[in-house]
Amino acid sequence: MDRVYFKINGKKYSAGGEFSVDTTLNEFIRRHADQRGTKYMCLEGGCGACVVSVRIPGAGGDEDSTFSVNSCLVAIMSCDNWDITTIEGIGDRKVGYNIIQRRLNHFFGSQCGYCSPGFLMSFYSLLHSSDGHLTEKDIENSFGSNLCRCTGYRPILEAFKSLAVDANPKVLQKIKDIEDIDQQICPKSGKNCRDSCSDKELQEWCLVNKNSKNILSVPKQMTLADGRLWFSANNIAEIFETLDKVGYDSYMLVAGNTSKGVRPIISYPKVLIDISNIKQLQSHYLDVNLVLGANMTLTETMLLFKELAESNEDFWYLQVLYNHLDRVAHIPVRNIGTLAGNLVLKNNHPDFQSDIFLLLDCAGAMVTLGKWISI
Ligand code: FES
Ligand code: FES
Repeated sequence: MDRVYFKINGKKYSAGGEFSVDTTLNEFIRRHADQRGTKYMCLEGGCGACVVSVRIPGAGGDEDSTFSVNSCLVAIMSCDNWDITTIEGIGDRKVGYNIIQRRLNHFFGSQCGYCSPGFLMSFYSLLHSSDGHLTEKDIENSFGSNLCRCTGYRPILEAFKSLAVDANPKVLQKIKDIEDIDQQICPKSGKNCRDSCSDKELQEWCLVNKNSKNILSVPKQMTLADGRLWFSANNIAEIFETLDKVGYDSYMLVAGNTSKGVRPIISYPKVLIDISNIKQLQSHYLDVNLVLGANMTLTETMLLFKELAESNEDFWYLQVLYNHLDRVAHIPVRNIGTLAGNLVLKNNHPDFQSDIFLLLDCAGAMVTLGKWISI
């Protein structure tokens, strides 16, 4: 029987037929990995209490990518090859707190603490995906992903802004004064941390374990605890081959699975096919038109729109679309939510107010549906 393999804070785990199709990453982290620092509240991608950081090894020489996800939305079967970091993985009182944890504390950005792991993991992912080059504006703009019901957002925002490349020098001086009297023990040297490590040194002990590159993706087929069949396709042909085998009566293609936050799935179909590994569906090309892969995430689409708007005057209007996309959902949802997933949701629920549908319609986009012809 096939299984999916992944890491949580550097420790290897696997999941297979003992789980149901609706077992989420959040449930696995809390109940099976026994790491309860990751919280949950809304369970529909709205509050950010469940945010964790994910690193996926780059395929074929591509760079690894790091991004935040709402663990309450992600099916555990979709986590194959993922290197997941939770709040427990970035620092604690035994090994020393991560600088972002210390800053949140120093700025009094946490009261009951329920939202804090989610805020920290959102910010941690953002820092890693941007190589630490964040401006105050970038940080402020990222704040739609998390809710806090008791501290107030100003101290949280100030704590993270103190790590911006253009941070206010007065704030930095204040930080220096505070941190001088609250030193942490460096897990590497055993002495007080002087914040003097190079980036390379910091990455050696401070950041996520980076040894998951050699886990290979293989076709998966599993019968889950609730009798559903879970498949993982590595190319488009495999989707149709699987459907030819199991039938087209009751199936669903799964990528980010974020739509279940907007429209809960009452009853899952019999067959689920994970298509998040299919590179053909995540790429784009330009002829006279811009052709987008159906499985491009909203974040990938935004980055592409920005790049093209800045480099090609024919595509100036993509900046307008980018600005609107920046207001759709929030970062962890945009990191794994796909174009096709949003359009399928709109197709299945015409009353769903889809910004993606509206934008593509306004731009005169055309959707091409795949069709498989067996020979
Ligand atoms: Fe609220 Fe996941 S529990 S976003
Ligand atoms: Fe209590 Fe944010 S610190 S919810």
